[in-house]
Amino acid sequence: MKTRAVYVCQNCGAQSPRWSGKCNECGEWNTLVEEIHATGKKASPRSSAPANITKLNDVAVSEAPRTPSSIAELDRVLGGGITGGSVVLVGGDPGIGKSTLMMQMLLGMSAQKTLYITGEESLQQIRMRTERLGKHSSEHVYLCAETNMDVIVSTIETLAPTVAVVDSIQTMAIPEIESTAGSVAQVRECTALLMRVAKQKGIAIFIVGHITKEGMIAGPKVLEHIVDTVLQFEGERTHAYRILRALKNRFGSTNEIGVFEMRESGLREVPNPSEVFLSERNYGASGCAVVATIEGTRPLLVEVQALVTSTNFGMPQRTANGFDYKRTQMLLAVLEKHIGARLGSSDVFVNIAGGVQIDEPAVDLGVAAAIMSSFRDVPLDSQTLIIGEVGLSGEIRAVSYCEQRIAEATKLGFKKIILPKASLKSVSVPPGVQLCGVETVTKAMEELL
Ligand code: TYD
Ligand code: MG
Repeated sequence: MKTRAVYVCQNCGAQSPRWSGKCNECGEWNTLVEEIHATGKKASPRSSAPANITKLNDVAVSEAPRTPSSIAELDRVLGGGITGGSVVLVGGDPGIGKSTLMMQMLLGMSAQKTLYITGEESLQQIRMRTERLGKHSSEHVYLCAETNMDVIVSTIETLAPTVAVVDSIQTMAIPEIESTAGSVAQVRECTALLMRVAKQKGIAIFIVGHITKEGMIAGPKVLEHIVDTVLQFEGERTHAYRILRALKNRFGSTNEIGVFEMRESGLREVPNPSEVFLSERNYGASGCAVVATIEGTRPLLVEVQALVTSTNFGMPQRTANGFDYKRTQMLLAVLEKHIGARLGSSDVFVNIAGGVQIDEPAVDLGVAAAIMSSFRDVPLDSQTLIIGEVGLSGEIRAVSYCEQRIAEATKLGFKKIILPKASLKSVSVPPGVQLCGVETVTKAMEELL
């Protein structure tokens, strides 16, 4: 068989016949790696019988069977449990807790036969991890330390477990493919192989993958297209909280999140995240505001912190952590223009507490209020929740899911809620809570400070 060398970008998977320092597709440097491809004879035009076609109406509607994963937060993100025959990619930074999550899932599914394939740790290490996770019945959990894909496929087929975990895809390799484990070619082909086994045998397969420092799941986009579901396990290593998010889901919505806390004894589910994110509040400090964001269908109360100080020299600094940088700048401009706050010579730092990422305009007004509170050094009332999107002309725009945000705040004992005037008519007033509708950012600040 003739072979031919192609150069494959390890970042985006683009192929090129020649090596170059920079990938023409994605612009990354030093990512092209040589791969040997077999080239068969040119295929001659062929004819074939037509495929079987079916009327859409004749296709039987049967929900794929779901198996509970034993972790409610994980089930929610998956769209209501594990779908038989599905392939789920679990991505995240090294050390975030992917292996722990997978092991806890298998230990919890004690009634099912499950298989954990590791290419990273020894069986002893895994046993030690499960000891940390506490007493579990692990009667039906099978382990295997292997990196050869051919062996893995036949192991999965022979054991036929309900769920198999492959940890991690970057360590697995098909011997016939020349490139090393972790390269785009290997990762892609290994995943395609696992996909085939999953579909043929109806076995759910979880693939663990490390993400690169650029934030992409390594073996990158090519992988996301192949698998059914992509879950991202994120959080700051310095914080105990972890958020599990679906980036793609063929079997459910992509806007559900699961919240976990990493403990000495493994991951603990956090069913009421708002309480947790507000637990470290510093009452009476200026620059702190509480906002309500919607993650999927769940309201989540978090604290926004802002610090405004005068610039010592040069350009004023603006930093936003957990909140969009451009949006922060827009809010600063609105405050300058409509409130007359002279922020042009101040450094402004915005931080969402607890390591949460928010990309929802409904928290605009809360961020603006935190900035103004720090700028004037006047603390905001700690029992007040702030909801509202800020427009360029200083107007407060209506936001969706107002009812849910208010309900969550009421549950946590908030007494007053600042919200867009336009949203007032769509909500009912809970007892003991004062709702205050505002139309402009000026009005809102008068109300708050
Ligand atoms: P791990 O699941 O090995 O991460 P990943 O597979 O994503 O690389 O978890 C790694 C971290 O979690 C490690 O730094 C130790 C910590 N950890 C705990 O705090 N408690 C525990 O019970 C376990 C098992 C791990
Ligand atoms: Mg691991």
